[in-house]
Amino acid sequence: SHLAIVAAKFSCGAPRAGSEKGPDAIIKTGIFDNIASRANLTLSFYTSSQDDAELELPSDQDESGLKRPREVSAAAAHISDSVYQRARPGNFVLTLGGDHSIGVGTVSGTSKAIRERFSGRDLGVLWIDAHADINTPETSLSGRLHGMPVAFLSGIAKSPKKGIFDWLEDSHLINMKKFVYIGLRDVDEAEQATIARTGIKAFTMEDVKRFGIEKVMDLALDHIDHIGDETPIHASYDIDSLDPEWAPSTGFSVASGLSLDEGVYVAKRLYQSGNLIALDLVEINPDVATSQLNVTVEAGCKLIKSALGA
Ligand code: ARG
Ligand code: MN
Ligand code: MN
Ligand code: MN
Repeated sequence: SHLAIVAAKFSCGAPRAGSEKGPDAIIKTGIFDNIASRANLTLSFYTSSQDDAELELPSDQDESGLKRPREVSAAAAHISDSVYQRARPGNFVLTLGGDHSIGVGTVSGTSKAIRERFSGRDLGVLWIDAHADINTPETSLSGRLHGMPVAFLSGIAKSPKKGIFDWLEDSHLINMKKFVYIGLRDVDEAEQATIARTGIKAFTMEDVKRFGIEKVMDLALDHIDHIGDETPIHASYDIDSLDPEWAPSTGFSVASGLSLDEGVYVAKRLYQSGNLIALDLVEINPDVATSQLNVTVEAGCKLIKSALGA
């Protein structure tokens, strides 16, 4: 089978730059040379970058309380189409971020591809993150779009203006009954209210400590695939789901996260499910805790290898 790797070099959804260098930090390790032979995959690479003049990203100005919304929206639209083109024929798509606002692009791309490939069926999504990323333009305290991708993907947030996420079609949106969070521990009040009101399945770090990661993965996969119908799964893995001990190089570290073993276990179970069709690895920022960047990158590589069965 074929692995399509998308390097999404964008940090416009985050308060500080640096995560646009995340993809190269991973690729430089040579991880994909090993994976190709070990997992018996053919590979292709595609780069999409905020420095690419041909992308013609709109101005980076703040608008309606949002930070750089037109730039983020245009970047996500481009990623959405890139991921869609690759997922549509049945390739596994690995997207390397970038800040998590690119998740609007990656998940919408696979959602549309899966609907077309399998006559209207819904995508399952596992969102592994310290944060819920479900703020809306109205609830966000930061105005940063990396805190909002789940709100746009679910339709909870609507395009606030022409040119800002107005490219999202119904086929891009996801069914939140097939969406599960793992690793939450820094959720804003308004986000908590949204999760409670809409009944989104969420396993916090407290849940992981109480039940153990094995049980949490049993329940998470069962929630997505409750009638065993092999629902295709997209995993959006924010590196800050891991404890800062294993992932110091990220913009929004939160204490008491997943151990590397727990994170790897999540990835292995996704691989073993046989239903994983796409993976994002986001929010590695080489400009943060630079002296320990290798620790973070090594952890990221382990997650990727485990999810690919390599
Ligand atoms: N909840 C905060 C916000 O809305 C932080 C979000 C952090 N997101 C991330 N992808 N690291 O701004
Ligand atoms: Mn995130
Ligand atoms: Mn996060
Ligand atoms: Mn819970």
